Amino acid sequence: MARYFVTGTDTDAGKTLVSAALLHKAHQQGLSTFGLKPVAAGCEQRSGEWQNDDARLLRHYSSLQHAYHVHNPVALQAAIAPHIAAAQEQRSLSVSQLLNACQPSLEINADLHLTEGAGGWLVPLNDGSQGDIETLADFAIRLDIPVILVVGLKLGAINHALLTAQMLLAHGRQVAGWVANAIQPDMQVQAENVQFLRRWFSQNNIPCLGEVPHCAGIDAFDSQQLDAVAAALTLPEG
Ligand SMILES: Nc1ncnc2c1ncn2[C@@H]1O[C@H](COP(=O)(O)OP(=O)(O)O)[C@@H](O)[C@H]1O
Ligand SMILES: [Mg+2]
Repeated sequence: MARYFVTGTDTDAGKTLVSAALLHKAHQQGLSTFGLKPVAAGCEQRSGEWQNDDARLLRHYSSLQHAYHVHNPVALQAAIAPHIAAAQEQRSLSVSQLLNACQPSLEINADLHLTEGAGGWLVPLNDGSQGDIETLADFAIRLDIPVILVVGLKLGAINHALLTAQMLLAHGRQVAGWVANAIQPDMQVQAENVQFLRRWFSQNNIPCLGEVPHCAGIDAFDSQQLDAVAAALTLPEG
């Protein structure tokens, strides 16, 4: 059984799309899959509860499909920084509370078990007014599983990628791989940017899991459309 925490260089880097494609690919290879979004900010009412599109997509590609809340224990309404969204609902977030909320989801034994972060690596869970500031990185460190880094290709992405990767290494994380994801249709000198990133990551012994092309207007719930993303990826080893 393989477990990974999926982080990204930023919000909208492609964490959800890549996670869904990895789950889809694994299932096509006969593996059981489970996707978890511990905290989601940005929900709408569906079936009488607040649901988030990322979590719905991860659930869609989970062969071990459970009730919605098992795939997304903390669903916050506003699509803003999670700690602010929580405060707006008079809720507070902490690492220990999130670990408790995720306990049943973390106990699920899938061949491929993916946990998607929110935003980038250092997104806050709280503002520190009750003690030390805690971030989603602190949560991922407690999970103590390898990390997959999704790099959303755009101007500035090299800096974001290196900052994130350096922080992952400084936090003692095993980085199972990185993905170059073409979030823009026509990024200037994309190939040169990817070439630089390939060299930097390979010098740090971090494998590239693939280069995902831009897929304009993709509907990731359509598995045939997601095939194009899955085809560009290799499953992490180990
Ligand atoms: N390679 C790509 N081609 C086209 N659209 C993409 C690509 N990667 C991501 N997107 C789109 O960009 C948006 C943000 O991607 P998403 O996976 O939700 O990012 P994150 O989870 O990091 O916030 C989504 O609408 C997604 O479909
Ligand atoms: Mg997402």
